[in-house]
Amino acid sequence: MLEDSLSPVKRAWIEARVINELNILPLLARYYGQEQGADITDLSAQIVALQQTRQQPPELHEVASRLSGRFPIRFTVDLQRPLKIDEISRTTDSFNQMCLGCHVAPAGDNSVVIGDLGSFSRSMGDQEWLARLLGGVRGDSYTVLENPFSDSDIARFFRYTRDQLR
Ligand code: HEC
Repeated sequence: MLEDSLSPVKRAWIEARVINELNILPLLARYYGQEQGADITDLSAQIVALQQTRQQPPELHEVASRLSGRFPIRFTVDLQRPLKIDEISRTTDSFNQMCLGCHVAPAGDNSVVIGDLGSFSRSMGDQEWLARLLGGVRGDSYTVLENPFSDSDIARFFRYTRDQLR
């Protein structure tokens, strides 16, 4: 959304996704509070502040980055280890069976990831791609994948998309 060259269709689509995610955050914060037995008063206030930046992409980006920096993903599998030959062929099979059906289509104007998961994955830092991957494999009411994967599977998809997928 910080790119001037973004088409109106793509901008509207990204805006809709951002609003969607912003609306889900209070619920996620509540789950987090319950799971951790943590007081989320301060977090809730920060989420409200984040939601108030929805019309100003530069501020939204800044506040969201600060907030996500406070909650790094706890992920215990090494994401940097290159895949071995047998893992590459196994992960290629899994990807072709479980992901390619949707992610093969040429990127339309209403998507940034369909058809271009490889270069999309290489356009951002590790934490962000991991977060997106977790979001992607969790799915939504349309994809309903509900993340059937272990952290090791996720780590293999992580390296596969970054290193193998062209
Ligand atoms: C039923 C179709 C479908 C299948 C199967 C599917 N995806 Fe997706 N995926 C989508 C759609 C739709 C989106 C959202 C695309 C968009 O908004 O541009 C998405 C988004 C993503 C994203 C980006 C999330 C983000 O927030 O940027 C990732 C990463 C992803 N998928 C990975 C996978 C992986 C890995 C698999 C296989 C394990 C998979 N997907 C299987 C349809 C699918």
